[in-house]
Amino acid sequence: MSKLKAMRFDTLAVHAGQEPDPLSGAVMTPIVLSSTFAQDGPGKPRAYEYSRTDNPTRRTLEHCLAALEGSKHALAFASGCAAMSTILHVLRPGDHVIACDDLYGGSYRILKKVMGPLGLESTQVDLSDPRRLDEVIRPNTKLVWIETPTNPTLKLIDISAVAERCKSRSIPLVVDNTFATPYLQKPLELGATLVVHSTTKYLNGHSDVVGGCVMTNDSGWHEQLRFLQNAIGAVPSPFDCYLVLRGIKTLHLRMERHVQNAHRVAYFLASHPMVERVIYPGLPSHPQHELAKKQMKAAGGMLSFVVRGGDEVARIALSETSVFTCAESLGGVESLIEMPSIMTHGSIPPEQRKALGIVDGFVRISVGVEDPDDLCEDLDQALRKAGKKNGLL
Ligand SMILES: Cc1ncc(COP(=O)(O)O)c(C=O)c1O
Repeated sequence: MSKLKAMRFDTLAVHAGQEPDPLSGAVMTPIVLSSTFAQDGPGKPRAYEYSRTDNPTRRTLEHCLAALEGSKHALAFASGCAAMSTILHVLRPGDHVIACDDLYGGSYRILKKVMGPLGLESTQVDLSDPRRLDEVIRPNTKLVWIETPTNPTLKLIDISAVAERCKSRSIPLVVDNTFATPYLQKPLELGATLVVHSTTKYLNGHSDVVGGCVMTNDSGWHEQLRFLQNAIGAVPSPFDCYLVLRGIKTLHLRMERHVQNAHRVAYFLASHPMVERVIYPGLPSHPQHELAKKQMKAAGGMLSFVVRGGDEVARIALSETSVFTCAESLGGVESLIEMPSIMTHGSIPPEQRKALGIVDGFVRISVGVEDPDDLCEDLDQALRKAGKKNGLL
């Protein structure tokens, strides 16, 4: 591991935290299913005690995640939501959290409907202008939580600018880096205190695991979260840890192709007669295209667009795709298409959705790694069918 510390991202993705098994020489990390571990005597554990507390496969994954994000510490969780819930358990009733306005629906639900009734106060604000933070900070503000790019309107938030404002008031900043991955964006280097991921998405990359993680350089935060990881117990199974480790080995390759394909699809949709607007940070038409170039290595594999004719037409188009699967989630090798208003973001009140720009006909796609011509042709035939059925073409 120590030799690897100086290695570059692609090498870390394949090797970090992983050595051939000292007993068998197995090149791939063993899946250690044991829930408990023998002790040399009462109260004399060897390296491990009990798998909720720590587990060899999970520890390997945590080392790998820390190496990729460039952090001192990483903790793995049973889902992205479990990671978020565990972080929020550090706070106390009466504490106040500021979150960006465009938040994944499940994150919004935890903040408002789970932690709200327990006394956690929260305010959402559009942090694509970081100065807005100053308007909502209170004496009891204990955490700022942002996503960038945001889900699903793909707004960008200037991490350095928000981090500076947080630092001057000693408020920790959490960045949900799920959409970008550490391959494209490194929030800790830009001043964030904690980074969270839903590993369900790009890090695993194959739509066969639900998982999450938290990374930090702050040992105080790490110790609190490690305590809660064990105490609350929202930990991933060893098998899921193995799958995420395996998925990560190709993260750099997959992300390159996701980005290439997303650019192709974005330009294709931008000139399509059934599309009103394409939102993709990699397009010069995106209002924060310059920030994307500054803060991200590339614009990622997620894009949203607005179908001409509204929800009804979009609904038909989504039933007509054959390469794109109509499904929630994102970040897998396969392309997915969805309508946030009735799927991923259904838990956000309709007025709030509209204010965010999740308008009639709003569609989000996760561009996979298939042949880009097949992706464009599939969207084209589905949109044309929907347009013809509604007399728009
Ligand atoms: C940006 C973002 N953060 C967090 C989550 C929650 O992750 P999980 O579904 O693994 O709990 C999601 C899920 O879609 C997400 O898109």
